Amino acid sequence: MSHKKKMVSQNLTIIIIFLSNFSSLAHIEPAGHNSQITQTKNETQTQTRTKTVAYIESSCQETRYPDLCIRSLSTFAKYSTIDGPDHLAHIALSVSLTKALQTRGYLLKVVKQLEDEINNPSGHVYLTIQDCVQQINDSVDQLSQAIKELRRVNNLGKNINDKILWHISNVETWVSTALTDASYCVQSFPGYRMSKRTATIKVKAQNVAEVTSNGLALFHRYAVKYREAARSAKKP
Ligand SMILES: *[C@@H]1O[C@H](CO)[C@@H](O)[C@H](O)[C@H]1NC(C)=O
Ligand SMILES: *[C@@H]1O[C@H](CO)[C@@H](O)[C@H](O)[C@H]1NC(C)=O
Repeated sequence: MSHKKKMVSQNLTIIIIFLSNFSSLAHIEPAGHNSQITQTKNETQTQTRTKTVAYIESSCQETRYPDLCIRSLSTFAKYSTIDGPDHLAHIALSVSLTKALQTRGYLLKVVKQLEDEINNPSGHVYLTIQDCVQQINDSVDQLSQAIKELRRVNNLGKNINDKILWHISNVETWVSTALTDASYCVQSFPGYRMSKRTATIKVKAQNVAEVTSNGLALFHRYAVKYREAARSAKKP
């Protein structure tokens, strides 16, 4: 099925996005013959990891869902150091895209189940789920665009110029649109008398919305700093 193929290729893209940040993974350490060196290295790694976790924790305090933020980003502290707020935002948006892809996959599975169970489904729940598929599908697309724009920001380097400001505002637009779409999906289900399946959909969509809200907040921190720097650079 072409759709499946597309999903697989999108998942691969994400893995590549992740790996491109994990240059340390590709760097395989030779077996240490000097235990002193190994131990020192081990201590340094532990310190780096502690620092990364501390950085994640302090950055997440400014998000709306700090516990979820810490939980979803801490996994990365095991594999990678985090270079700064733009790198952190990149990781957060990758998490968000992964969640959106997983949720879209789940929704499509439920749609298929409903179609198999009922000959010609047209009930309210079915239509709501169909709408949700569209919205989460849009979120997937918007988050992919946001990550592309963020890569453009990174490629332009640390120079302060209008081109970067333009890409920064594009990232914010894409992510906030993705958040709006995921939130519509959440709100389209009532909070009561839902089947287990519908409740699961709501939880998953809520999760997409929350990690996306966190990603937006983390990126916003970076954007604000950059805009301030741009303003003070313009002053004579
Ligand atoms: C490295 O540190 C961990 C604890 O953080 C310890 O369990 C492990 O044995 C250490 N490895 C070496 C080679 O010192
Ligand atoms: C998702 O959106 C793309 C366009 O962005 C469209 O081609 C595709 O058919 C959509 N998939 C679903 C399941 O709606």
